[in-house]
Amino acid sequence: MSAHRIAVVTGAAAGIGAAVARTLARDGYSLALLDRDDVELKRVAAELAETIDGAEIESHVVDVTDRQAVDAAVASTMDTFGRIDALAHVAGILDTGSVLDSDPVQWRKIFDVNVFGLLNVLQSVGLEMRRQRTGSIVVVSSNAAGVPRIGMGAYGSSKAAATMLVRTAGLELAGDGIRVNVVAPGSTDTAMQRSLWSDPSDDSGADAVIEGNLASYRLGIPLGKLATADDIADSVHFLLSDRAAHITMQALYVDGGATLKA
Ligand SMILES: NC(=O)c1ccc[n+]([C@@H]2O[C@H](COP(=O)([O-])OP(=O)(O)OC[C@H]3O[C@@H](n4cnc5c(N)ncnc54)[C@H](O)[C@@H]3O)[C@@H](O)[C@H]2O)c1
Repeated sequence: MSAHRIAVVTGAAAGIGAAVARTLARDGYSLALLDRDDVELKRVAAELAETIDGAEIESHVVDVTDRQAVDAAVASTMDTFGRIDALAHVAGILDTGSVLDSDPVQWRKIFDVNVFGLLNVLQSVGLEMRRQRTGSIVVVSSNAAGVPRIGMGAYGSSKAAATMLVRTAGLELAGDGIRVNVVAPGSTDTAMQRSLWSDPSDDSGADAVIEGNLASYRLGIPLGKLATADDIADSVHFLLSDRAAHITMQALYVDGGATLKA
């Protein structure tokens, strides 16, 4: 059994999840990394093993919508490390379309990953933590959970459902000594964010996001910049740590003020 803290990170192959994995590994966590993207997951795991002294990393190619695959990865993590101290659930997908014109199939796909995928991971890891009677969980939702955005009906409502699911789990698990919190990022410079721009490779796509667009009732970002994946990872790291020992059932907005914390 490892003497380090053990964390499971989902969505670890890219963007915010990869940044969370790096931040936790630098702080000495041993990690089980889960993602459905085989190639990128291997790349991140190899990078961590090479660049961080003594890093203990195992990786599992898992689609979080597949409960059996999630359970197998969690069982393997328990076999390797003997316990799970922390869960950072970051995996999620985004698609856009108006409420009236979007295809219900698209809604099911988004809810399948952002709500039922979360439920799979939360149940699988949560059951282990409840047996241990200790643990800390952070789920990455979105500031779109709290504010209606044009074209984001499916995504925003999946994240609102995710946020309430997580806060309810926090209430139910408090008596077992398990803290459960949400980090709600605003626009963060990752492939997901850039997929919303007309040219994902052109950095100036950020300008319109920062400026906002009153025609679509969208405020800009008061701090005048996008978040970096590391900004979000730092908040996840804090909420997982003992420095947040009296914080549970919270949703921490990390959005540069974009929603005026509405
Ligand atoms: N980037 C933003 O502006 C932003 C803003 C608010 C919230 N978020 C949320 O942050 C989280 C991470 O977003 P990101 O920007 O890093 O996205 P990203 O697309 O760059 O990375 C997401 C990662 O999750 C993985 N993933 C997706 N579906 C999966 C599934 N079914 N099973 C396993 N892995 C899966 C992908 O393979 C990818 O590695 C998401 O939940 C997203 O909704 C992002």
